[in-house]
Amino acid sequence: MKTLVAYYSLTGQTRALAEAIASRLDGGAVLDEIKPLKPYGRVTAYVFGRADVVNKKIIALSPAKRDASAFDALVLLTPIWASNFVPPIRAFVHSLPQGNGKPCVLCITYGGNYGSALDELPKLLEAKGYAVRAKIAVKNGEKIDEAIAKTAAALAAPVLENAFA
Ligand SMILES: Cc1cc2nc3c(=O)[nH]c(=O)nc-3n(C[C@H](O)[C@H](O)[C@H](O)COP(=O)(O)O)c2cc1C
Repeated sequence: MKTLVAYYSLTGQTRALAEAIASRLDGGAVLDEIKPLKPYGRVTAYVFGRADVVNKKIIALSPAKRDASAFDALVLLTPIWASNFVPPIRAFVHSLPQGNGKPCVLCITYGGNYGSALDELPKLLEAKGYAVRAKIAVKNGEKIDEAIAKTAAALAAPVLENAFA
């Protein structure tokens, strides 16, 4: 199974988790960093980034290197800003082609409070036709082995739509 591991990262925590997950998935995982056309910096993220989160803004992204429709599964990783997932991830999900039941695993990395991030993001992906199989929250400084194992287990199960074909 070919898996796209797509992530946004400002300070490296989510990138490290995405790389660890991609390196441990069977069947060829491909990493793709989601980049805003106008990157956030460490200061602008606190000012404009958090406002964009609260306003649910669809920001412009740099052209994607990978075509998500060419993959069998999606692992999507996001940091938390203002207790929600970040604007680049909202824009990425907005631009995704229909998933037609493809399995998806969501991972967030956070400092202390991830609010309702794991409620809204799955709903957006399900509306796009993705089957969200696992929602995983990794607090900064905590072990990532459990997140890797959960992701691999969630993607190892057969896709139900094809199970009786
Ligand atoms: C602008 C900004 C806002 C943040 N807001 C929150 C927050 O509301 N709740 C939280 O738990 N962590 C918050 N954090 C911490 C990050 O979610 C956390 O450190 C995350 O792992 C960073 O991922 P990254 O290193 O891949 O960018 C915030 C970080 C930044 C830069």
